[in-house]
Amino acid sequence: MADLTTKFCGLDFKNPIVVASAEPTNSVENMKKCIDHGAGGIITKTIGDIPAMQALTRNSKYAILDDKGKIIDKRVPRSFFFYSRSGYVSEHYSDWIPILKETQDYAAANGSHVIGNITGGTIKGWVELARMVEDCGIPMMEINFQCPHPTDYDGETVGPWIAQDPNVTAEVVRRIKEVVDIPLMVKLTPEAHNLTEIAQAARNAGAESVAANSRFVGFAVDIDNAKPYIGGVAGIGGPWVKYITLRWIHDIYTKTGIPMSASNGIYDGRDAIEYFMTGADIMQVCSVLMLKGIQFIETIIDGMEKFLDDNGYASINEIHGIASKQAQTPAQMFEAPKDYCLIDHEKCKFPKCDLCIRTCFYDALNEGDERVAFTADNCIGCELCHSVCPFGAITMTKDKQSAADA
Ligand SMILES: Cc1cc2nc3c(=O)[nH]c(=O)nc-3n(C[C@H](O)[C@H](O)[C@H](O)COP(=O)(O)O)c2cc1C
Ligand code: SF4
Ligand code: SF4
Repeated sequence: MADLTTKFCGLDFKNPIVVASAEPTNSVENMKKCIDHGAGGIITKTIGDIPAMQALTRNSKYAILDDKGKIIDKRVPRSFFFYSRSGYVSEHYSDWIPILKETQDYAAANGSHVIGNITGGTIKGWVELARMVEDCGIPMMEINFQCPHPTDYDGETVGPWIAQDPNVTAEVVRRIKEVVDIPLMVKLTPEAHNLTEIAQAARNAGAESVAANSRFVGFAVDIDNAKPYIGGVAGIGGPWVKYITLRWIHDIYTKTGIPMSASNGIYDGRDAIEYFMTGADIMQVCSVLMLKGIQFIETIIDGMEKFLDDNGYASINEIHGIASKQAQTPAQMFEAPKDYCLIDHEKCKFPKCDLCIRTCFYDALNEGDERVAFTADNCIGCELCHSVCPFGAITMTKDKQSAADA
């Protein structure tokens, strides 16, 4: 069995799957359950001091939409849209002192880690919350600069606004670092213009790591009833967002090298591997556990182990960042030798099918008398015909002559 152990911010993780800050970590019972099902770590639901955000959680709503924009009424598919609103823990933050201590003891006894997630409404609030988490013996903290919900916040430098501004990000990080010693992870928002710039600002101000990233804000419409789902604007996420998140993980990893936790879009073990290969050190999971249950942590971990075993990797650390390291620059991409479309006319269903002809925008494929006519000089090797052919009749080749002769 491949070795899943990894190191992040000075902590040894038995595996890199960490339960993200959300409902599966909103109580001591839920957090213990995550640990029981094998999580390498858990991040508490945000402990905050903003009354509006505490009240919001008591009014949480969750809509799961399919790819047609309808509420799912059958099994949750592999691709879903999770449209929901939720705030911070409903309890007063001081009520979390015993919860944090109990969970920390349980995690330590079971080889897992607790990461405390906080949001303050003012600098004073940030500092007080940070001290409280550290005093409970929690070994690491995530500072939540991202919550996507509109609210009547008390302060000007809270929620998504912080992580949209490198100066405000740096200021809040600095003030927290003045009072705590445990490693800080800054949770970024995908709504910022340049996440890498924010990550670098956080790092320069003393943060040990970043989490890339939280959810977008959306607006989903129930056209049959001519109104928005769950009342209006809400957070939106799901497996569909994976490639956007990966873009930022790749960018932050290659340009800054900051230790990084991934969040947003992970469904199974193969996704987790994809994030790790791009440069994330640990992977957070939330939506999939909310829709399939905390038990699904085991399926994700098993999926990672299976991938590593099937592909002959002894340890997950062998594949850290390897996809990002292989990414080409535009210049390298343009210098690569050209490909040509090679049609297998035995497999081709022309004239019943003409899809590749319709989707070649370079005039390289046209209707011939009895078969698809290919003009090699016009082919730029874009591979669109290969992607769309429903019958596997097109491959790509570097041999122009054989493509022309086919
Ligand atoms: C219902 C719900 C509640 C959430 N609550 C919090 C929260 O309290 N604090 C926080 O930092 N992130 C919160 N998040 C964001 C998650 O931690 C996570 O970053 C996000 O859902 C993306 O990961 P996923 O694709 O695995 O869901 C919440 C997400 C959802 C769906
Ligand atoms: S898409 Fe495939 S099957 Fe259809 S015409 Fe092109 S090569 Fe033939
Ligand atoms: S590879 Fe692109 S340009 Fe060449 S035939 Fe196919 S669709 Fe046309």
